[in-house]
Amino acid sequence: MIFFVMELCISLNINIFLLKELCFFRLFVQIELFHTMSLSVPDIFLGTCFLKVSKCRINGRFGMRIGITTGGGDAPGLNAVIRAVVKTARRKYHWDVIGIEDGFHGLIDTRHIVKLDEAFVRGILPKGGTILGTTNRGNPFEYDYKNLDGTTTTLDVSDKCMENFESLGLDALIAIGGDGTMAITQKFFEKGMPVVGVPKTIDNDLMVTDVTFGFNTAVTTATDAIDKLHTTAEAHHRTMVLEVMGRDAGWIALEAGVSGGADLILIPEIPYDLDAALKYIRTRYARGSTFCIAVLAEAAVPAPHPTETYEKRRDTDSPAPWFAGMVRKHLNVDVRTTILGHLQRGGGPTCFDRMLGTRFGVHAAELVKEEKFGRMVTLQGRSINDVLITEAAGKQKLVNPEGELIHTAEALGIFCGRKLLD
Ligand code: F6P
Repeated sequence: MIFFVMELCISLNINIFLLKELCFFRLFVQIELFHTMSLSVPDIFLGTCFLKVSKCRINGRFGMRIGITTGGGDAPGLNAVIRAVVKTARRKYHWDVIGIEDGFHGLIDTRHIVKLDEAFVRGILPKGGTILGTTNRGNPFEYDYKNLDGTTTTLDVSDKCMENFESLGLDALIAIGGDGTMAITQKFFEKGMPVVGVPKTIDNDLMVTDVTFGFNTAVTTATDAIDKLHTTAEAHHRTMVLEVMGRDAGWIALEAGVSGGADLILIPEIPYDLDAALKYIRTRYARGSTFCIAVLAEAAVPAPHPTETYEKRRDTDSPAPWFAGMVRKHLNVDVRTTILGHLQRGGGPTCFDRMLGTRFGVHAAELVKEEKFGRMVTLQGRSINDVLITEAAGKQKLVNPEGELIHTAEALGIFCGRKLLD
């Protein structure tokens, strides 16, 4: 009889895991349904237990439990991904979803987990940050433990994570993060964990995806800052130097600079000619402009100069104050510096990032459903695809100095680090 119940459930596509969560009315309706099939309530109960114990799968994936984690620096749109995964997992496949908090910390110490359901993710779509917390420390393969005497011991706790993955009853893990998180995710995959990756960074420097969510929001914030600097620069006849994020890449500086109508855009991919930059500003003033806007990526560097040396001595040293100092020293104009910093990472995601995060999240859940593990979601052209995580690891996408975007900027007369035709 039990087997008959199983067969019946499968053919009716009934999710027995959901029974415990059904209201009495639906339970009653289902029992009635079985009754009309001449089955007794004990039969249904035994069938249910059997299905639960054996994790019987309907539609290939019935009864799965998946984990989600967010690692690395936050990016607007993370919550959109989490929400899309949870909704797809719960609504479409009736899986259990567990949030693993603070990157892989939650797999090292399982007190940092939370059950995710539709109620939990309600209202998070427009929110920045990540409801699961994140960290850019805490690699389980090189985990730093603080000793009582203040020293640190580095240990490989990945086996502990594997054990916890099992003990939590997880069937798959969706890891959302940048290249660091993807490298860790790949290592877990090689240890046998079924994983799917979702790329994230405001820097947009991941090779295999055309765009990452968070980038559009960061560019929007930086463009808004340029718009605001324009009005005060114009009022005071000043040169404004704005420094934006991007780690080793100039994408945010370039796109925000062009969108905001900057006069100079200095990015790490084109070490800038300081004398040419100063000449450009001098000429601009000489031609009647009363202000100037320069946007520098945080990793922008000048090309070697005969007398002036830029040295990035500490993490806190950044290129904008140095460049502003050069402008002040050589041109004797009024200069102010703004370092936009983490404002670019904060706040709610733009519509573009909400959409991209949502599409990534749904696709990640579908990859789990199809058991396509070891893969990472991507945007290629206008389509959501996926590639092996190894294709993304360690490959940085930088601005091409001879690419269309730089040519667009230079065609507008924006100084991008090298001499422009007069
Ligand atoms: O990778 C994202 C990013 O915001 C970079 O643009 C920036 O260099 C870095 O993270 C800042 O990291 P943190 O938040 O640890 O200071």
